[in-house]
Amino acid sequence: MALKHKPWITALAAAALFGASLAHAATFKVAVGDAQGGTQWELATRFKSAFEQKSGGKHKLDLFPNGQLGSEEATVSNAQLGTLDFSILAINNVTPFSPTVGVLTLPYVIQSAEEAKKLTTGEVGKELTDNTVRDAGVRIVGWAYSGFRVLTNSKKPVRTLADLKGLKIRVPKNEIMIASYQAWGINPTPMAWSETFTALQQRVVDGQDNPYITVAAMKFNEVQKYVTNVRYVFSLEPLIVSEAVFKKQPPEVQKAIVEAGREATEHSYQYLLATEDKIRKELAAKGMEISDPADAEKEFIAKATAVVWPKFHQSIGGKDRLDRVLKSLGR
Ligand code: MLT
Repeated sequence: MALKHKPWITALAAAALFGASLAHAATFKVAVGDAQGGTQWELATRFKSAFEQKSGGKHKLDLFPNGQLGSEEATVSNAQLGTLDFSILAINNVTPFSPTVGVLTLPYVIQSAEEAKKLTTGEVGKELTDNTVRDAGVRIVGWAYSGFRVLTNSKKPVRTLADLKGLKIRVPKNEIMIASYQAWGINPTPMAWSETFTALQQRVVDGQDNPYITVAAMKFNEVQKYVTNVRYVFSLEPLIVSEAVFKKQPPEVQKAIVEAGREATEHSYQYLLATEDKIRKELAAKGMEISDPADAEKEFIAKATAVVWPKFHQSIGGKDRLDRVLKSLGR
């Protein structure tokens, strides 16, 4: 028997399709650490369009790039408190709140974009997400893949550990990255991301490391001349949602968040593959001098793995966890 069209049936069907329509429409805030134009922004804009479409246009996302809502570390604290909904930031700035994610920042563990994707979207990523919920009250629902962090500085070409001497290098407030530079023989300067451009511009520090795409998005080429292709950390930038906010959402909204996060993650990966090389060439054309570390980076790798890995076995959850990660990568 055919149902005659009745307005209340249409309304009920729409409500069943998206249960949140029974709740109030919401506008969620998304903090984005980097300026527009990089991988964080690609993740953010795709997440926004996918989520708004999946929620039938009922809920909205407002994006706040360039650290407008505070330092990346502050956005984790605010999301934990439930005063901020979402944040996109570098994984190294999550580690102080949930040390086991440090396994993704241990130097030279991740050796390719493919490995980065495999780890974050597989069992390891799932376990780390559970840990951030437990430790930091934030849930990872997406990933931006930004490529290997390269070292930039304003003073001189760097190809060996000896060349690093005398340079003041800014690093995130991340113990593993601090220890990596210490293993390489210098004491780096820990500093919030939101202060980095000005510090480079005013020569408070000489250099920093971040992926090519981030260097371009932040216009670091205007204040930095030399690039060294170190491949010690592959930059991963999670999209986190406040667990308190997530828990309050009806199942349909939670589903839309998770699915939109997955879609944005895939987009971010494809964006990296399509863009990184082009951006490296553009930076060279704008005058950056790019070089590879001497002797296939051997001295950088040897020092970082021999000294830094054992130092952080405990904080990442034991040597076993690192061994399992390496095994899952076929090493
Ligand atoms: C940092 O260096 O603190 C981060 O990698 C910055 C970022 O979010 O891109």
